[in-house]
Amino acid sequence: MKVDAGDVELNIVIRGPEDGLPVVLVHGFPFSHEMWEPQLEAQASGCRVVAYDVRGLGRSGVGDGQYTMELFVDDLVRVLDGAGLDRPVVCGLSMGGYILLRALEREPDRVRAAVLCDTKSAADDDEGRLKRARAIRTLKDGGAAAYAEAFAPAVVGSTTRERRPRVVAAVREMIRSNPVRGMVGAQLAMLGRTDTTGALAGIEVPTLVVGGEEDPLTPPSTMRDLADRIPGARLALIPEAGHVVNLENPDAFDRELAEFLAGLE
Ligand code: MLT
Repeated sequence: MKVDAGDVELNIVIRGPEDGLPVVLVHGFPFSHEMWEPQLEAQASGCRVVAYDVRGLGRSGVGDGQYTMELFVDDLVRVLDGAGLDRPVVCGLSMGGYILLRALEREPDRVRAAVLCDTKSAADDDEGRLKRARAIRTLKDGGAAAYAEAFAPAVVGSTTRERRPRVVAAVREMIRSNPVRGMVGAQLAMLGRTDTTGALAGIEVPTLVVGGEEDPLTPPSTMRDLADRIPGARLALIPEAGHVVNLENPDAFDRELAEFLAGLE
């Protein structure tokens, strides 16, 4: 299904019964809805699971490549409206978590419950901004393939790197097939995002915070801090998994997600 987002169309995949609990999955950078394949399968029997491609990535339109986090939140709202979802559970990983955190601050009435995976509320500091400038240069000079070669093995945990070559290959492939203009646009949107830390104490919906024990980018200490700041949030640390926690250890991730969703009904 496609949703009209003004200058682009957003690609949406929907699985599960129409009357199931709606769950929207927002992917990280620079991935696509395909990173949610295990969850689209596992949760679909009881839930209405919706995964979409953030603009510029996957099979969504690219447009002008000039994106902001606000535009990404606008797109999330368009997805909810386009798929006819009334207050779904929203689950975001890393960049998807940035989108969700800002949506919780800006559009709190649109979200029934939140799942924040391998993400953080802090905005980029100077070191982070310079890292993004280097990433943009790599993307422009070497293309998606060069970026994928460096990023895919670095983003997963050591267990995945050593024992799950197929997961590393799938991550690499997802990155390689993304358009450079869309990836650069997402980097600029992340670079310019606001700090949502001040809004965490005001989150009123049930929240699950999930992290990979071997995540090199948002380590367990970051996830613990995030969970501590959100009233009543539950923290789940997944063993033998890095930043792409849901793909690296899908069984453990799905168990935590299913338990959290069951507790909502
Ligand atoms: C992601 O996985 O979405 C990225 O690591 C987020 C970021 O670049 O800050």
